[in-house]
Amino acid sequence: MEGKRGAAGKIILFGEHSVVYGKPAIAVPVASVRANARVKKGKGFITSVQTKERIPISSEHPFALAARNALKRVEAVGFVDVELDSEIPVASGMGSGAACSVAIIRAIAAHNKVKLSDKDVSDIAYESEKLFHGTPSGIDNTAVSFEMPVWFIKGQEPETLKIKKPFKIVIGYTGIKGKTKELVAAVRERKEKDEAKYNRLFDEMGEIATSARKAIERGNIDVLGPLMDRNHELLRAISVSSPELEKLVAAARNAGAKGAKLVGAGGGGNMIALTDEPKKVKKALLVAGAKRVYVTTVGG
Ligand code: PMV
Repeated sequence: MEGKRGAAGKIILFGEHSVVYGKPAIAVPVASVRANARVKKGKGFITSVQTKERIPISSEHPFALAARNALKRVEAVGFVDVELDSEIPVASGMGSGAACSVAIIRAIAAHNKVKLSDKDVSDIAYESEKLFHGTPSGIDNTAVSFEMPVWFIKGQEPETLKIKKPFKIVIGYTGIKGKTKELVAAVRERKEKDEAKYNRLFDEMGEIATSARKAIERGNIDVLGPLMDRNHELLRAISVSSPELEKLVAAARNAGAKGAKLVGAGGGGNMIALTDEPKKVKKALLVAGAKRVYVTTVGG
C-alpha cells in the first residue's frame, strides 16, 4: 500500500520567543500551504521534489530521524522510500520543518496501516524539531500535527482554541531565511546578561497572548490589532526584528491594517497583518518588497 499524507503550514499569532520561557502562545494553521509525503517500498531514501536532495533514512538529517522514529513506532519491516513535496517556504516561520516531518510520519503510518493520534505524531516530530532548532518549545510540531488553532504552553497539553468570529491575516515574506536556532540562542545569551529586563518583556508577551485568547474566543477581533502592534514592539525590544521586517510592518499599517507584527523567530522570514482589506494590504506589501504574500482566514 502506498501511504500519502499531508500537513499544513502554521504561523504564531502571539507569543514567539516568550513561549521558550514558559509563557503561553497562540499558533494557527495556514491551510493554503502544505507539505505532502508519499511512501512506498524502496531503498531507504527521502527525496525532495523541490530541492532534489536525496537524504538517506540512516543519516543524521531531521527528516531521516522522523522517518526512523515513525518506522520504529509502527514496527515496520523492510526499507521504504519517501517522496517529499512541500510548497511551504523554508526557514520562514511557517513551520516547514515540522510540516515535512509530520507528513513523513503520517505517510509511513498510512503505508503500514497504523493509525497514530495527533499527539503521537506531534511527539515523534518534536524529536526532529530538536535537531532543527536546538531547544524548541514544541509549538511548531503541535500546531502542525493538530492542524487547529492552539493555545500552547511548553510542557503542558495543548488546548485547541475556538474562533468565535473568523478573521483574515496577510502574511508577507521578506525573502530572507530566518535562522531560528541562532536567534533563539542569541536571545538566551542576551537574557542571561539582563534577566530583569527580559523577564519583564516576556511577562508582557505572555499577558498579550492571554488577552488575545480572550478576544479570539469572544469574537472581539478589533482588540487583536493593537495587541499585535504591542507584541511587535516587544519583539523589537529583544532585538529579533530586521530592517526588512520593519519595512513590511510599516507598509501594512500604512495600508490600513489593524495591526502587524513579525512572526516566528524573526531576523527575516515573515510578518503578519490583521485586516479586513487583504487585497489592499497585499498590494502594499508587494510594493514594499515582500517576496511572497499569502492571505489566510483564521477560523474560516
Ligand atoms: O520561526 P518559527 O515559526 O519556527 O518559530 C520559532 C518560534 C520560537 O518561539 C522563536 C522558538 C520556539 O521553539 O518556540
